Amino acid sequence: MKNTQPTILTGIRANSELHLGHFLGVIMPMVRLANKYSETGSNINIFVPDLHSIISEIDGDLQQNLIRTLKIYLAAGLKVNQNVHFYRQSRVPAHSELCWILDCTATMGELNRMTQFKDKSEGKDSVNVGIFNYPVLMAADILLYDAIYVPVGEDQFQHLELTRRLAERFNHKYDEIFTLPATPKKQAEFMAGNSEGEGVRIRDLQNPEKKMSKSNHAENSKIMLSDEPNIARKKIMSATTDSIGKIQYDMFNQPGISNLLQIEALVNGVPLQDLISTWAGETHYGDLKQKVAESVATMLEEFQHKIDQISDDQILELLNAGEEYANKIANTKLKQAQTCVGL
Ligand code: TYM
Repeated sequence: MKNTQPTILTGIRANSELHLGHFLGVIMPMVRLANKYSETGSNINIFVPDLHSIISEIDGDLQQNLIRTLKIYLAAGLKVNQNVHFYRQSRVPAHSELCWILDCTATMGELNRMTQFKDKSEGKDSVNVGIFNYPVLMAADILLYDAIYVPVGEDQFQHLELTRRLAERFNHKYDEIFTLPATPKKQAEFMAGNSEGEGVRIRDLQNPEKKMSKSNHAENSKIMLSDEPNIARKKIMSATTDSIGKIQYDMFNQPGISNLLQIEALVNGVPLQDLISTWAGETHYGDLKQKVAESVATMLEEFQHKIDQISDDQILELLNAGEEYANKIANTKLKQAQTCVGL
């Protein structure tokens, strides 16, 4: 019988140690959704896009990094049951094969417009084709599994739009074989669990106009998940704020304070609006910083204790089972696409 529950899918590249932006932007929301929806029959696909990893430098060992990335989901509270699937993209060859088929429907203009491509290629004499083609592989990752909800940070929304566009174009030209993922707005609402959801972009602590990113090498700009809780506390206490002197959510004029409010809401699983009301009228930035520093440090302490108790073998076992499942589903969809284009 066909599963009518929506598939929820996400991936995080394992190029290096993850930071708080990954954790709050994707891992925590995914864990919350997975624990809720896997019980009611949704498939929860959590994969490591290792083919996406090799477009750029990898810090350390990719295999070790990807095992650690998957451990992070478990340490964050993911409950595994028969509907939760872990897999490596490279172990499911249908991803690359569908990418090629979709490449033949995507245009150079579309890919040229991708902000991430512009950012990653800016000022470089030579850029590899993988960086250019990256969003099409991401579309294949999603479309192979009929995934409707794809929890990602706000920086990936443009890729979700492209995925929808490519699927629509293919369905129109050949046959309705692809399910369109929900619009970014719907994704954000689904992730937040209310109709006010907006995409999450955790900001750089020192330069809050920018997102927290592993490519910023300034230590105080980001909180790594491996940071000692005390170090994390200090980083939050030294976060850049402003001179307005009001604790309110205004990402445009007060990105530093707004970022702290967002972090506090996400770490504690509290709706942002509730937190904004709690702090309304307050003026002491130090109080807010102290509260956030405590929340983040406590979270890191608990999480780091749990991650040490998960073995590599546990993850490898989950990968073996998940890859068997993923190949079955992905090959069926790939065959349909191949038939459509006459292969
Ligand atoms: P990647 O590996 O760069 O980042 C993984 C996820 O973390 C989110 N993220 C953030 N969210 C909030 N605030 C931040 N500062 C922050 N930094 C990173 C990203 O939005 C992302 O969701 N293309 C994807 C990986 C991918 C994928 C997919 C995701 C490949 N195929 C299919 C979903 C579905 C990427 O490079 O993310």
